[in-house]
Amino acid sequence: MVPSMKNTPVSKKRAPVASFPKSLLAWFATAARPMPWRETRDPYRIWLSEVMLQQTQVATVIPYYERFLTKFPTVEKLAAAHQDDVLKLWAGLGYYSRARNLHRGAQMIVERFGGKMPRSPDTIREIPGIGDYTAGAILSIAFDLPEALVDGNVARVLSRLKMLEGDWRTGEGKRTVWDVARVAVAEVHAARLNPGDYNQALMELGSTVCTPRSPSCSQCPVAAFCAATKNDVQDDYPKLKAKSVSPEWKLRAWIVRDKNKILFAQRGQDGLFGGMWELPTERLEPKTSSSPKPIARVTHVLSHRVLHVEAIEINQPDWRKRFPKNADLTCWSGDYTQFKWLNMDDAQSGSIALPAVQAKILALCAEKTPLFD
Ligand code: ADE
Repeated sequence: MVPSMKNTPVSKKRAPVASFPKSLLAWFATAARPMPWRETRDPYRIWLSEVMLQQTQVATVIPYYERFLTKFPTVEKLAAAHQDDVLKLWAGLGYYSRARNLHRGAQMIVERFGGKMPRSPDTIREIPGIGDYTAGAILSIAFDLPEALVDGNVARVLSRLKMLEGDWRTGEGKRTVWDVARVAVAEVHAARLNPGDYNQALMELGSTVCTPRSPSCSQCPVAAFCAATKNDVQDDYPKLKAKSVSPEWKLRAWIVRDKNKILFAQRGQDGLFGGMWELPTERLEPKTSSSPKPIARVTHVLSHRVLHVEAIEINQPDWRKRFPKNADLTCWSGDYTQFKWLNMDDAQSGSIALPAVQAKILALCAEKTPLFD
């Protein structure tokens, strides 16, 4: 009997379906923006770039990155530096604990690890300032290891891709997005694709296509894999809980003049702006009246605080009456460790590490009063 053809399975030849990571990597190969740290596999340089890029835009970082490496081209050079010189190169980038940790981290790499960046995920996290994100970035980009990373861009992409419901920044939502990222990197590795390129491609997609507002889904190389796009709910992801309102601080920066010199103070190591220089600045009760009249006012927004700073000029004898010793001034977090007199040019030309808010005040004062000419 001739067997019936009816139930014979037909082998359908389908074109292989491109996977999510393959589609993403193919796009990245053509769309990656040139960045100086993409031309190196040196773990020190990748570490530096990743630390600078936390909280800061690529275009802002590039000149800082280049100046930093001109001065400290190796981890040994950074380890041997004075903290003051490291902070000076960071001045204006903000989040200065990043610079202090980088410096201490370089010292640890030289002293404990013979100048070599550890390749072990547990060991690398012992370095000051290296948390899960930075560990994942260094290990995957410099060493091709299948380690995941999640930053704001990656979290947004993955949250939309899988319609993740939690807030990725805390608790269960954070665990979920990291789990999704880890599973994906393991698959990338199993498919013999490069985890460092994959991680960078995710970040690049998040910053150029899968943007917080008005994402360019029609241009997206992985739209076919995206649950949010399928359901047309991109704008509802990531789900973020409202942040608590930042406290507002009122500060008074004293411009203490002695002829053409101004008094500067160095903050203690701990706390906000640790180790940096500033005009002697005190924290005021919110309702304190301003007397004498401020010559400048600046509002500066930090991640967890809003600073309202007024600058008040005072001459040296009046200052002495008010504060018989410089150290009598109560700094607004911790104590000052030392004081020095500088002229305006020296203060503004990078001879001391000044936080951006202080540089703003100085610039305003220089504009407003001819006394500093
Ligand atoms: N953001 C932080 N690091 C990045 C990288 N290596 N590529 C793209 N965006 C980034």
